[in-house]
Amino acid sequence: MQKAGKFITFEGIDGAGKSTHIAYVAQALQQRGITVISSREPGGTPLGESLRQILLQEKMHLETEALLMFAVRREHIAQVIEPALQRGDWVISDRFSDASFAYQGGGRKLPLAKLEALEQWVHPHLQPDLTLLFDVPLAVARERLDATRTLDKFEQEQTDFFAGTRAEYLRRAAQFPQRFRIIDSSRAIPEIRKDLDGLIAELLVGEQDE
Ligand code: TMP
Repeated sequence: MQKAGKFITFEGIDGAGKSTHIAYVAQALQQRGITVISSREPGGTPLGESLRQILLQEKMHLETEALLMFAVRREHIAQVIEPALQRGDWVISDRFSDASFAYQGGGRKLPLAKLEALEQWVHPHLQPDLTLLFDVPLAVARERLDATRTLDKFEQEQTDFFAGTRAEYLRRAAQFPQRFRIIDSSRAIPEIRKDLDGLIAELLVGEQDE
């Protein structure tokens, strides 16, 4: 695929606080004249949003869950991500394949080789240009989750699950250092925004060079 726009993904365990920062980054880019498509997984298309309801509520076989996550992703790539990048727009996705590795792999212990096979099938040539991993200690994430709304199927999982999820996120960040940036999300919002401003500036310098 010829790609003109940039693809940025936001990741982190539930309660890491990434959602607060997505709107900030999208708005900052838009103010600099970039057309930004904000999307999410599971979701991103009408079919994906229908499957999201099922994925977040229904209990199912682990492999069914992994397959459905990648089915949602296939549709999302075809309908939203690739067309936007080809137009030269930027795509910000609240989660992408790293979440499958972290949750179905690290959390639920599906062998990573199965996830790699699905990734090769669904997007052999597409990877994010930048992945922001919002990282917090498990206790902080739990406290934030418990203070919020009704919890979905994943948010109800226990410490062991999130320990595995966080460890796999961090392992992937170490494996792909060129695209991952780890953001210490236990800090106050203004401090995190300073990091984000720096990253946005870096991205835009890269743009001018191209
Ligand atoms: P969200 O609450 O951040 O929108 O994410 C929905 C949940 O789906 C979250 O608990 C993480 C989970 N998830 C997976 O387990 N695998 C995936 O591939 C994706 C994209 C999300």
